[in-house]
Amino acid sequence: MKSIRPDNTGMSNGPSQRILDNLTTAVLTFDGALRLTSINPAGEMLFEVSSKKVVGQPLASLLPHSQRLVKTLKQTLESRHPFTARGVRLALPGARAITVDCTVTPLPDGARGDSLLVELTQIDRLLRLARDESMLDRQAANRAVMRGLAHEVKNPLGGLRGAAQLLEQELTDKELKEYTRIIIHEADRLRNLVDRMIGSHQLPKRNPVNVHEVLEHVRKLILVEVPVGLSIERNYDPSLPELLADREQLIQAVLNIVRNSVQAMDSQGTIRMRTRIERQFTIGNRRHRLTLRIEIEDNGPGIPEELQEHIFYPMVTGRADGTGLGLSIAQDIINRHGGLIEFSSRPRHTLFTIYLPLDAGSHGAGTAATEKRHG
Ligand SMILES: Nc1ncnc2c1ncn2[C@@H]1O[C@H](COP(=O)(O)OP(=O)(O)OP(=O)(O)O)[C@@H](O)[C@H]1O
Ligand SMILES: [Mg+2]
Repeated sequence: MKSIRPDNTGMSNGPSQRILDNLTTAVLTFDGALRLTSINPAGEMLFEVSSKKVVGQPLASLLPHSQRLVKTLKQTLESRHPFTARGVRLALPGARAITVDCTVTPLPDGARGDSLLVELTQIDRLLRLARDESMLDRQAANRAVMRGLAHEVKNPLGGLRGAAQLLEQELTDKELKEYTRIIIHEADRLRNLVDRMIGSHQLPKRNPVNVHEVLEHVRKLILVEVPVGLSIERNYDPSLPELLADREQLIQAVLNIVRNSVQAMDSQGTIRMRTRIERQFTIGNRRHRLTLRIEIEDNGPGIPEELQEHIFYPMVTGRADGTGLGLSIAQDIINRHGGLIEFSSRPRHTLFTIYLPLDAGSHGAGTAATEKRHG
């Protein structure tokens, strides 16, 4: 990890450096003029910046919309009294807002005047993580019920279809044959639905997968389906390592999400696909050193408010012709890869985020490629 370096931050190397690098709390230091002197990797993740770019900059440019915090830090410098504030709402550049617990400690710094140590813990994230865990359990239970039910439907369905076929052979009247054809057609439709509900029994067949190749594949498929009116923009992190994953399943998961966007936008609008790396990210109760983040964003009407709570449940749909299985299947696939999908949605802005841990059997070359990004 090279985000905090003694040459540009004044922080020392060694064990304390390692601790700083691995903390999940964002730790920032400012000089007496409130210029940033160091930021640890958790801080870089929180602000989505690189230390190289922001060290040396004034606090006001890091947090242009948080005047109150700037003022409080100034007061702390003057009063030399540490303070802690809980549940502070921070507006970050790029219209992001987070809620943090914040502790500010003045550090006497001899002749150069005081400096400030600022610790930020994102609490909306913690709240969500607690939810994730019970949510994952609930979804797994749900899928088990659904699979059981689907199996029960599938068996008699075969008999039904077979009997209709036999009957059809006995019939000479064309009009009557129309009825048996309907039975066979509907039985096939139901079997397709049930197959989708049961999903793949197989564990993912993991091979090194280039996630950008997966996204590009989906992009091409969608652009063939919708050649005009839709634009798909990409913003990829080229240094992402390969992922050990089931390529076909990943394509399916991403496709289900992108198709929803296309359908919601009525094939008119812009979809953005973005990839990034997350450090020290927790999924369920496991913390992962490196996690892949895939974002799929659209500027469609947004997910109806009343659906949002249940959108990953099977059979929940807002479309007249929807089966409500797409997201449930996508979530299932991503869960099998140890990952998680979440979303946020308001009119003109819906964002689905897929997290896939890279250390859950990730490809060996991966770490090196990722470290390169910071080197
Ligand atoms: N990007 C989006 N914008 C607006 N609404 C969305 C978006 N993604 C999902 N939804 C809503 O969530 C519902 C559930 O999606 P899901 O993919 O699970 O099922 P479906 O699309 O209705 O059916 P299926 O995917 O099985 O054909 C959709 O019907 C839609 O109402
Ligand atoms: Mg769908």
